[in-house]
Amino acid sequence: MNSPTPKDLNSMSFTEWLKIQVENEKYWFHRIELAPGIVTPGWSDPKEDKLPYFGLPEDMTGMRVLDIGTAEGFFSFEAERRGAKEVVAIDSFPDSVRRFNIGRAAFNSKATAHLCNVYDISRKTFGTFDLVLFFGVLYHLRHPLLALEKIFDVCTGTLLMQTATHEVPGNEDVSLAKFNPGWMASGKQGELQDPTIFWLPNCTCVKLMVQAMEFQNVEVLSTIPGAVLRAESPTKAPGIAPDQTKAPWS
Ligand SMILES: C[S@@+](CC[C@H](N)C(=O)[O-])C[C@H]1O[C@@H](n2cnc3c(N)ncnc32)[C@H](O)[C@@H]1O
Repeated sequence: MNSPTPKDLNSMSFTEWLKIQVENEKYWFHRIELAPGIVTPGWSDPKEDKLPYFGLPEDMTGMRVLDIGTAEGFFSFEAERRGAKEVVAIDSFPDSVRRFNIGRAAFNSKATAHLCNVYDISRKTFGTFDLVLFFGVLYHLRHPLLALEKIFDVCTGTLLMQTATHEVPGNEDVSLAKFNPGWMASGKQGELQDPTIFWLPNCTCVKLMVQAMEFQNVEVLSTIPGAVLRAESPTKAPGIAPDQTKAPWS
């Protein structure tokens, strides 16, 4: 259906509006139940396939959370549901931010999504965070260590990260990474093609990369899907919002 006109909006229920927003999007990555009977038709079901493995704390009361590569925001909304005080989401793809905002309206959420590349995060712009979520992004990056450096700067608590990996049987303990420019199978059954994958480290390599940034207590939480790790900042402090008097424009 075409986007509703202001006249349509006057006579439309919120549920009808939401349904149209979901249907009007050509692509969804996350499958999210936005309201009873309204589920985004994404091929990735984070509630089933990711949440049980990704180490999200049950109680996130009072946390300031950064969700890097949020896509349609499943983890942002989940963090808020678990009590996070403030959730800042970033994604480098404009359509992700637009779709995130449909979920934001559905959940009446205060989480905010920003069009921003992970390489551009800084304390000055976004402040610091008790918890940084870095799920499903590292393998998309040309410069994974640069991204981890930027994350280290804004994380004053815990980093939770997940990446696709490439394991060579018999060499799991050796730190290896496969450089994989070009297309790679993606989608639920490998039915899609993803041209945006560069580095596929093995789990040992991911752990060393995170340690090389001087994160502490680096721990592998799961090897499905890919590698899931938790690490701690050496300078523990509550996350704080950026100081607007020393804002990024100065
Ligand atoms: C595989 S999805 C992961 C989504 C979600 N974090 C999850 O785990 O379900 C990768 C997301 O990261 C975003 N992304 C890729 N490269 C990025 C970058 N350099 N900076 C910020 N976001 C990026 C993509 O646009 C996409 O929405």
